[in-house]
Amino acid sequence: MPSAAYLSGQAALVTGATSGIGRAIALALARAGASVVVNYHAHPEEGEAVVQEIRQGGGQGVAIGADVSREEEVAAMFRQAVEEFGTLDILVNNAGIQQDIPFVKMSLADWRQVLAVNLTGSFLCAREAAREFCRRGVAPERSRAAGKILFISSVHEVIPWAGHVNYAASKGGIGQLMRSLAQELAPERIRVNSIAPGAIKTDINRHDWEEPEAAAKLCKLIPYGRIGDTDDVASVAVWLLSDEADYITGTTIFVDGGMLLYPGFGTGG
Ligand code: BGC
Repeated sequence: MPSAAYLSGQAALVTGATSGIGRAIALALARAGASVVVNYHAHPEEGEAVVQEIRQGGGQGVAIGADVSREEEVAAMFRQAVEEFGTLDILVNNAGIQQDIPFVKMSLADWRQVLAVNLTGSFLCAREAAREFCRRGVAPERSRAAGKILFISSVHEVIPWAGHVNYAASKGGIGQLMRSLAQELAPERIRVNSIAPGAIKTDINRHDWEEPEAAAKLCKLIPYGRIGDTDDVASVAVWLLSDEADYITGTTIFVDGGMLLYPGFGTGG
């Protein structure tokens, strides 16, 4: 893990930070010296628990609630974050949901809900962050960039996923949102990138890794032979958000143990 100096003096907002990948990233950013806004959706006590952990590690954090798919709640969260820390340097667009169902049974509500959180939520948060980054501009004592936006996408940005078309469509959308935004915001010195995790042990896919047989089946899709941990993603996030990665924008980094390498072709084809 990078040292505390890495992101010291910077303020970050992580959406969906009460569990899984979001929580690991919030904790890792705090360990790297950033002040962290821990966004929660419905349960303030879950946000507070992550903030407590941050404080116990000597870091600074605050929990702020918002449903990322609601414009007014997102605007209020960013206002509160800027009041709390003066400005923001980093947004991690992590909040995401899965609602799996065969396509012919998929209701409009199933479709809308996943798109609303995963894609529209990312848009709404990115817009608020970009406004603050543009307002402040580059502050060299904080970072070489005026701001950094990181999307947490998925291997399903690229790999089609039967039975999950709403989710896969939302992640495909994040790909073009990220790249177009990177192009538009580069002249403002705002860096925009994605991390696309593969199978990482979180609640979203618990049924795929908790039982040994399920885990063995999942591992067949992972050439590297292990299911990922949330810290596999968090350590890459900290680096990508730091000035060490200052020349990287518009890129997706796949953190997937090789899931994208067509593992079925490893022994045939
Ligand atoms: C999904 C997980 C899945 C992984 C690999 C992720 O985006 O949220 O449920 O295990 O992709 O298929």
